[in-house]
Amino acid sequence: MPVSLKNRVALVVGASSGIGRAIAISLAQAGASVMAAARRENRLRELKAEMAGHTFEICRVDATSVPDVERLVEETRRVLGPIDIVVYATGINTPDRALARLGPTIWDELISTNLNGAYYVTQAVLPAMREARAGHLIYIASISGRAPDLSGAAYQASKHGMIGLAHAVRLEEHEHGIRTTVVNPGLVDTEILDRRLVKPPAEQLALALLPEHVAEAVLACAMLPLRAVISELTIVPTAI
Ligand SMILES: NC(=O)c1ccc[n+]([C@@H]2O[C@H](COP(=O)([O-])OP(=O)(O)OC[C@H]3O[C@@H](n4cnc5c(N)ncnc54)[C@H](OP(=O)(O)O)[C@@H]3O)[C@@H](O)[C@H]2O)c1
Repeated sequence: MPVSLKNRVALVVGASSGIGRAIAISLAQAGASVMAAARRENRLRELKAEMAGHTFEICRVDATSVPDVERLVEETRRVLGPIDIVVYATGINTPDRALARLGPTIWDELISTNLNGAYYVTQAVLPAMREARAGHLIYIASISGRAPDLSGAAYQASKHGMIGLAHAVRLEEHEHGIRTTVVNPGLVDTEILDRRLVKPPAEQLALALLPEHVAEAVLACAMLPLRAVISELTIVPTAI
């Protein structure tokens, strides 16, 4: 029997578009009280309006800033209560992904956004989760973190790092009732693909996952009984 998410508090970082947005919607539709966070406030406001009738709050955050992340976590607790579930769906890529163009500034930006932010959010929520002896951290990584590909050295390094972070947190914190899940999607049709030097062709996009597919997988992970955890999950399009 899936565990009900009714009145559970979920914080989704990177919720203004794509996978994070779909996850925030799914969690709210499953009964969770959701805090949706990202930088683009206009997108968050539109999402909140769309989610009228659900317990759905929004907060601007730059996940690369420790004070911003700490403020977000405090605000979530103040408005919704203790945090049960965190989804880190924040991520960027760059058209300058090839090493011939990848300078230190872009490297730092990718690692900060895709990996450091996940660590900042983790550190901000862990103490209260330890005290509560419960909590579920869900990280959206990528198949690029598992198999070599041409998504770029910085992107791949960030995703390898995130997979390491997720497993390290789980092994260190499981004795406190804390669970982690890292989700590795294949190609998903979202705005991040606009940042590629060459966008996948329409025929390939027609076969790609939709953000809602990843959201369904995340929801299944979040609704497992407390004594079980899907530690790592790969979801890819059937036909690519
Ligand atoms: N699409 C794919 O094929 C695919 C495949 C595997 C893994 N992924 C991963 O899935 C995650 C979500 O990406 P997506 O495909 O859904 O792309 P997306 O639509 O571009 O979503 C990225 C999200 O990250 C947020 N974000 C970026 N920088 C941020 C920052 N500094 N602070 C806070 N939020 C920030 C964006 O919001 P703001 O710009 O409003 O801040 C947006 O909500 C990423 O980690 C990506 O690497 C995607």
